[in-house]
Amino acid sequence: MTIRVIIDCDPGVDDAIALLLAFASPELDILGITTVAGNVPLRLTQSNARKICELAGRQVPVYAGCPRPLVRSLETAEYVHGATGLQGATLPDPQLPLQPQHAVDYLVETLMQTDEPVTIATLGPLTNLAVAIVKEPRIVEKIDRLVLMGGAAGAGNVTASAEFNIYVDPHAAHVVFTSGVALTMIGLDVTHQVLTTEARLEAIRSIDTPVAQAAAGMLKFYGEYDRQQFGMSDSPLHDPCVIAYLLQPDLFTVKSLPVAIELASPQSIGRTIVGHSIDEQKNRVDVAQSANSDAFYQLLTTRLATL
Ligand code: RIB
Ligand code: CA
Repeated sequence: MTIRVIIDCDPGVDDAIALLLAFASPELDILGITTVAGNVPLRLTQSNARKICELAGRQVPVYAGCPRPLVRSLETAEYVHGATGLQGATLPDPQLPLQPQHAVDYLVETLMQTDEPVTIATLGPLTNLAVAIVKEPRIVEKIDRLVLMGGAAGAGNVTASAEFNIYVDPHAAHVVFTSGVALTMIGLDVTHQVLTTEARLEAIRSIDTPVAQAAAGMLKFYGEYDRQQFGMSDSPLHDPCVIAYLLQPDLFTVKSLPVAIELASPQSIGRTIVGHSIDEQKNRVDVAQSANSDAFYQLLTTRLATL
């Protein structure tokens, strides 16, 4: 059975790898790609998403969404992804047109019009989805499941407390996490188990196709920041874990826990408080606990070779 999915993202190198994995997976019926400001400004995330579609030879409709968070000013991550957002790959300007409809309106219209289950996969700040929920709360019951990359039960990566996607727009995260949507959270606790070792990178680099060479080029540069910040031997790969979860959920273990978003503290704003929120019974989330990283890279590498 194919999974009908809308992917919301902020490409971003790991978003790009996640999109390529999704394009290489016939189990997924990708209805559309919505883009948001995050790793780099929206004018680049929407263009980068279209570049990746063309790299993979796919004509998936791409929509531009919100250019800034709900309340905070935008903080980007060129220090991780490069000035273009796709450091390590030189891709031509996209010919694939950007859809004229705003991503928020596309989300609301698509979800309200369909009777078939739709999964939402978010790989960036949750601004688009939060605005869509505020605009039309009824979309929540139309979403079969939201699988997101974001948060951390433990340490953050932008601050000691907060992971980037939640930190950039914590108010949007609060709207989404308190909406009642069925939610699986794949946070740093898991993605820091999924490390692109030199051997795993070489396995991708050894595939003689434009897609694999572009992926290897991006992965070569990606993660230097994480390696230095966390003293890691190899770079964690975040966003493709969301797609891998859709394809093979058994690669991961999850635990149902209450999750709250810190909004008040200037030192820990954007922290996902996992397991000890005030109301234990509300806002329960399937929080990913572990990942089979060998099987993950086997899946990623095998699928990339098909593009
Ligand atoms: O913290 C990692 C997340 O923030 C990833 O989604 C990365 O692409 C950035 O958006
Ligand atoms: Ca991302």
